[in-house]
Amino acid sequence: MPVPAADAAPRPPGDVVLDIRNLRTYFFTYDGVVKALDGVTFNIRRGETIGLVGETGCGKSVTAFSVTKLIPDPPGRIMDGTILFKGANLLWGLDREAKFKTLKKGGRVKVVRRFRRIRQSQARMMAVRGGGISMIFQEPTSAMNPIFSISEQISEALLLHRGEMVIDGLLSASAGRHGRGEKADGVRRDRTERASEEGLSSDRIDVAVDELLKVARQNDQEALRVAAQKLAEVTGLPSIGTQSFYAVRGGWADPESRLPEVRKALRRLNMSPLQRRFLLRERALRDLNQELKNAYMREMRQGKAELLARRRISARRLSLRLRTFYFGLWGVRGFVRRPLKLETFWQSVRLLEGVRIANPVQVARGYPHELSGGMLQRVMIAMALSSDPELLIADEPTTALDVTIQAQILELMRNLKERVGTAILLITHDLGVIAEVADRVAVMYAGNIVEIAPVKDLYLRPLHPYAQGLLASIPRMDDPSKSLESIPGSVPNLIYPPSGCRFHPRCPHAMPVCKEARPPMTVEGEGHQVACYLYHGPVAKG
Ligand SMILES: Nc1ncnc2c1ncn2[C@@H]1O[C@H](COP(=O)(O)OP(=O)(O)OP(=O)(O)O)[C@@H](O)[C@H]1O
Ligand code: SF4
Ligand SMILES: [Mg+2]
Repeated sequence: MPVPAADAAPRPPGDVVLDIRNLRTYFFTYDGVVKALDGVTFNIRRGETIGLVGETGCGKSVTAFSVTKLIPDPPGRIMDGTILFKGANLLWGLDREAKFKTLKKGGRVKVVRRFRRIRQSQARMMAVRGGGISMIFQEPTSAMNPIFSISEQISEALLLHRGEMVIDGLLSASAGRHGRGEKADGVRRDRTERASEEGLSSDRIDVAVDELLKVARQNDQEALRVAAQKLAEVTGLPSIGTQSFYAVRGGWADPESRLPEVRKALRRLNMSPLQRRFLLRERALRDLNQELKNAYMREMRQGKAELLARRRISARRLSLRLRTFYFGLWGVRGFVRRPLKLETFWQSVRLLEGVRIANPVQVARGYPHELSGGMLQRVMIAMALSSDPELLIADEPTTALDVTIQAQILELMRNLKERVGTAILLITHDLGVIAEVADRVAVMYAGNIVEIAPVKDLYLRPLHPYAQGLLASIPRMDDPSKSLESIPGSVPNLIYPPSGCRFHPRCPHAMPVCKEARPPMTVEGEGHQVACYLYHGPVAKG
């Protein structure tokens, strides 16, 4: 006997990363209010992949944008609901952000936005974007800035979300050779110990460089990669290996002529005291940013503003900036930033290699308009994966890619899931991709989740007539004789959504009750829920 989900659905277990409840997002347009999401509820657990499917205009992207709070406001507005990310309510303070008035003339709804509150809410989101929630956008062209090069855009994301790791890497790689006693990793080391390490690592680096040049003469790419990897290991900076590899590659006739380029890469290990001091300041600023993010997370968890704590951190940040104002002076600025700039450039190249871009150096130096849609998509995937997020929202990540690259990208996402335990919300039209990578599937129709189930369960036993229609419209290898069916009609205009079950005008099983009230979500098996009167209600079958 089916049971209403509200009563019987198990409470989400402790490892739930994202818990969305009753989410409503509307767009206030001149034609009327588009009710794009109308009570969306689902959750994602750590390390789980949820596939979100549905026809075009069903609200899949709006769900993704609502979670990341990237809904264009105006005209959009999240009206109601809770989005709990690791226990922090991302929608805390929503009710104070805007007021709604119905105008007497024409009955239109006027939204009076409080932009100060909206800005505060956006600032809070900085605490979860990047390392917390990362997103691959459906349209890479509109998600990238046309006036910055690809490497500048990847570098910005890297510094914003993984800045401390980049800086720590640079500081500790140069610490052994430098011997100036700064606190690179919080430990002042003994001078003699440093001196001996310096000599040792210098010798090992020279040997690795000689080996690299020797291998370059053989014109063997694989051997060259191994030699570059060796150089990366002895210097402690993988990016030096990458830079040296591209410096000597192709110079097999006269590798010695590429030596200055390799030396340029090694210069990062011998930073000037001013450059090191700049990095230490940047590190301290990042620690303060982390404190601020923690304060924001606490606010969203406890539902209580920590104004004083935030002001104190901001004051410390300002004071540090003022004390080190000279890093911003003309002539100093470029010089002190050089090692960091070089490092992030070559780390960007490594990330582009990771998404199988064949000419990563050229692409990193290029601008968005110079790349094809598929290449841009891969750049964005590189950016999103670089921060090892806890939740990755991928909005049609592989639609613009050819099949071989698709498989590689899905493999990258699978690796991330295994390595970091990332939870993935995968939005796609491709039910084949879902079958391949998802653990559960949520079927969306006209702003509602109508069925959610473990992937096998849904493919073998789809319950909602809409899910049945979607599955009947894809070709099947196991039964080629079966003709493809399509769902009659199209997704309704969400300004005037149909009453009751929004699918009733297209449903072959529609009953009078379907027009009257929205069907509740009911549990129909282990983790299988459906919103349809065929399974629960006055005329439920079986
Ligand atoms: N900026 C906007 N202004 C007005 N309406 C919007 C806006 N953005 C989205 N919508 C509406 O929200 C609804 C859901 O759109 P959404 O982009 O989420 O669809 P989708 O399921 O992602 O479709 P697709 O598969 O084509 O990407 C649509 O009716 C759309 O018209
Ligand atoms: S509730 Fe009614 S209209 Fe909606 S899917 Fe079920 S049978 Fe069809
Ligand atoms: Mg979309």
